[in-house]
Amino acid sequence: MTFIVFGYGSLVWKPPPHTVSKTTGYVKGFVRRFAQSSNDHRGTPERTGRVVTLVRAEDWTSMTSEPTNGQEEKVWGVGWTIDPEKEESVRADLDYREKNGYSVQSVDIYNVVDGVETIVVHQATIYVGEKTNEAFIGAEPIPTLSARIHSCIGPSGLNKDYLYNLAIAVRELDPETKDDYLFDLEIAVRALDALELISRSGKLLADS
Ligand code: BEZ
Repeated sequence: MTFIVFGYGSLVWKPPPHTVSKTTGYVKGFVRRFAQSSNDHRGTPERTGRVVTLVRAEDWTSMTSEPTNGQEEKVWGVGWTIDPEKEESVRADLDYREKNGYSVQSVDIYNVVDGVETIVVHQATIYVGEKTNEAFIGAEPIPTLSARIHSCIGPSGLNKDYLYNLAIAVRELDPETKDDYLFDLEIAVRALDALELISRSGKLLADS
């Protein structure tokens, strides 16, 4: 069977190695949340950043009072088809994440074709974050989460750039794309950017 992996985080804007094609669509019954700490990519062990993970919608609802509507339980992303000759090495790289408590599952990817919801990929591979993952931190209020993302940096770059890249890439996937949580978080972090700029300009003016 062809190995197709569903990208919902950095794999939305940055394909895994050895891809041969790309299928845009959404998986159902999950939410995408910045519920995972990052101490080696977008943060450090001293100050961990936040990256997204896919969580089963019912698990998320049981953990938080945050509302999830039906639309949000569709997570838009990209199904990447991997060159069959490289499947083993790509799987090994991705499975590396599993050691911390991801479960690897197969789900259908959907899109709307000629106005009709259609399965565009049967049984793609997805990596679902488990509560047992030591890096899983669950729900944080938006002000706390946005301040954290705004201020963190790790070996892969600024945490806020991860969020901005993801939001831009998800928005560009399809005109039907909706993800209130992601786009609201992007607005909150961009607002902190704006406040920082205003504060710096004020200091410059005061010093001049
Ligand atoms: C991601 O989209 O970030 C991702 C998806 C599957 C495995 C690892 C990362």
